[in-house]
Amino acid sequence: MNYLSRTRIAALLASGPSAEEIEVPGWVRTRRDSKNVCFLELNDGSSLNGLQVIINKEGTDLQPLIERIQTGAAVIARGHLVESPGAGQSVELVCRDLTLVGECPAESYPLQKKRHSFEFLREIAHLRGRTNTFGAVMRVRNCLSRAVHQFYQERGFLYLHTPIITAGDAEGAGALFQVTTLDVENPPRLGSATPAGATSGDAARSGAAAGPVDYGRDFFGSRTFLTVSGQLNAEAYATALDRVYTFGPTFRAENSNTTRHLAEFWMIEPEMAFCDLEGNMELAEQFVRYLLRDVLEKCPEDMTFFDKRIEPGIVESLRGVAETQFRHLSYTEAISALEKSGETFEYAPSWGIDLQTEHEKYLTEKYAGGPVIVTDYPREIKAFYMKHNEDGKTVRAMDVLVPRLGEIIGGSQREDRLDALEASIDRLGLDRETYRWYLDLRRFGSVPHSGFGLGFERLVRYVTGMQNIRDVIPFPRAVGNADF
Ligand code: 4AD
Ligand code: MG
Repeated sequence: MNYLSRTRIAALLASGPSAEEIEVPGWVRTRRDSKNVCFLELNDGSSLNGLQVIINKEGTDLQPLIERIQTGAAVIARGHLVESPGAGQSVELVCRDLTLVGECPAESYPLQKKRHSFEFLREIAHLRGRTNTFGAVMRVRNCLSRAVHQFYQERGFLYLHTPIITAGDAEGAGALFQVTTLDVENPPRLGSATPAGATSGDAARSGAAAGPVDYGRDFFGSRTFLTVSGQLNAEAYATALDRVYTFGPTFRAENSNTTRHLAEFWMIEPEMAFCDLEGNMELAEQFVRYLLRDVLEKCPEDMTFFDKRIEPGIVESLRGVAETQFRHLSYTEAISALEKSGETFEYAPSWGIDLQTEHEKYLTEKYAGGPVIVTDYPREIKAFYMKHNEDGKTVRAMDVLVPRLGEIIGGSQREDRLDALEASIDRLGLDRETYRWYLDLRRFGSVPHSGFGLGFERLVRYVTGMQNIRDVIPFPRAVGNADF
């Protein structure tokens, strides 16, 4: 079992017949029997299609072994690759010898040959990678990850690892998971003379007024959280290295039980110095189109599968998006288009509201017939760090919206004026001290700079046509569920 030199099924299927005997490990997807022959479909996760393995039952002593091979079993097949007479495959393996590595009892194996619902598969997330759909999703996800790095590396962006534990709320939205080593049932409290321990708990139980929690005694000496965005840290390095990007896990304790929200998701955040909103939009559009072109080129088989089984027409539509310029619309224009649309929305559109999924769907699917970049949102519905426009009402924000999904990217030009940024922080009641280092970036050699965040799972959902964001990440974490 030489791991590194082993040829995988994807490569075998693309090759021709072999003169030498080869060894192919994999998991049995299906087994069919005729009187004299047993057909196994073997899959090793390298491609959607498996390798057909043919075992001639006559004249071998494999018969007792074959009887024990069922769906899900792990085997190693040895034999010759021959041209396949059957349609749909180029080669098949005529098996001379077989090892049953791991048996799989059919009675208790949850994955049967029939189609299972995605809801059911979510309950067996540790096994769902063995299905056609999840194999394809994970291969496409992998391809897109590589393309993300390729895109930025080709353009001279430096890959920056930003912290996962932070003291500040980068979005100012308050959807934070707290990180603490304090005893949550009995934390030390300020203003109590008693040391942390049973006594302050006793005080609380006896009804004595307990002071606020003393985070000075927490692990980091202050209150800390899982990051909601690497942006602020990325800004520090963009104003040193000109262009950087992050690609890391992000956490939001939003109580939104939807098909496009996760509590733990991955985000790509480029940040560019000497760059205004125009440059930012150009990068975002190039980025999305590049990713689509790349995945269509590198994963044709998996994409055809999504087109056939998940979202008919998706390949054609993504190809169209990859080739067309995105429409630009100001928020004010977008609201006016929604108001004039004649559609009945659950949330009536009016200037000042945040765009809802239904509005985003209308704008992309009906109004523009493709992706739309909406700019200049009201400052009240956007984060504190965005640069104010001269009208005093809107900020230099831009969201990229796509059909079937809505918002895939959120970004902005950042407020680079110290006084204006301080005013925003104060207006929102945020703590200047927490953002002291961030304000320094405006104090020392401040430059216009911009960036955005692309939600990686939103992208994978968009590209595969999967309906639920929980089905495009190996082990989803969402409100009410952190199994596996
Ligand atoms: O629009 P958001 O909140 O922007 C930021 O976090 C900025 N700091 C980005 C930046 O300018 N550097 O989030 C960016 C993207 C969204 O457009 C969406 O695709 C994704 O992150 N996103 C989520 N994806 C899955 N689950 C969630 N709960 C998400 N929240 C945001
Ligand atoms: Mg957003």
